[in-house]
Amino acid sequence: MSKFNNQVVLITGASAGIGAALAQEFASQGANLVLLARRKERLTAIATAIDPTGNKVLTIPCDVTKDGELEQAVALAHSKFTKIDIAIANAGLSVKGNLEDLSLADYRLQWEINVFGVLRTIYATLNDLKQTQGSLVVISSVKSYLSLEGDSAYSSSKFALRALCESLSKELAPYGISVTHVCPGYVATEIRRVDNQGIFHSDWQDHVSPKLLMSPEETAQQIVQGIERRQREQVLTYYGKLVVLLKRYLPWLLSWLISQMKIKEKHKKG
Ligand SMILES: NC(=O)c1ccc[n+]([C@@H]2O[C@H](COP(=O)([O-])OP(=O)(O)OC[C@H]3O[C@@H](n4cnc5c(N)ncnc54)[C@H](OP(=O)(O)O)[C@@H]3O)[C@@H](O)[C@H]2O)c1
Repeated sequence: MSKFNNQVVLITGASAGIGAALAQEFASQGANLVLLARRKERLTAIATAIDPTGNKVLTIPCDVTKDGELEQAVALAHSKFTKIDIAIANAGLSVKGNLEDLSLADYRLQWEINVFGVLRTIYATLNDLKQTQGSLVVISSVKSYLSLEGDSAYSSSKFALRALCESLSKELAPYGISVTHVCPGYVATEIRRVDNQGIFHSDWQDHVSPKLLMSPEETAQQIVQGIERRQREQVLTYYGKLVVLLKRYLPWLLSWLISQMKIKEKHKKG
């Protein structure tokens, strides 16, 4: 039997991509799920596909940028499942563009979702995780190690998450809480088809070569293994591992390669 059987897993940003795949993976291992995101109809479709009876899945519309919404969601989760063993702060947006293309409002939205949204998730679930000696999981990025031209908003938010997790893994260890900082490389999700304001465009193409993309399902399987091992950090995809290795040991080579290959992020339309 899986370690996660009947454990309660709360996931933010569960209506798409990595969050939805994590919901499927934990469900296949017998976990109870609390799924949060803004798009209710998407959450309902995912929950119904996982468990048509609704016994093991609770969906709650929740915007991680709104003070109080995570606390309300946790209260609802208690009324159905009484506890939370694993909290996964996954909801995210990727704002792209050079400083001069962006405004303070763009940076603020990026940090509200990617950094303060994670902090709201942590504050709302901390008491539960203390009681269950559970796991806090933060879905960050390889961009928590590398900031390309045109990527200051997104990368700065992910660098902040790496610092947050490094401190919290020490601060929360005495309570028996594990902290896992997850750094995926490119995953085949909708994130690059969502504009800087958070609107999804079904007609946009993902500019990343399919050869570099990991599937959300494989990503979720690897993340769940990392959570089971209570791993402190997890870097996913082969080139993601290469980037982090070069950044740590040969940063000048990584900078040279990036400038030779003219790798940069472009402003998203919209
Ligand atoms: N895909 C990649 O290549 C990649 C690489 C590295 C790291 N990551 C990270 O992985 C995480 C998941 O991204 P993804 O690739 O799965 O993207 P995605 O397919 O665009 O999904 C993003 C999820 O976040 C939710 N979300 C966005 N804004 C929200 C808000 N204000 N409140 C609540 N939920 C919100 C969305 O739901 P609603 O719109 O319904 O609210 C959606 O469920 C992010 O933190 C991202 O930075 C992704």
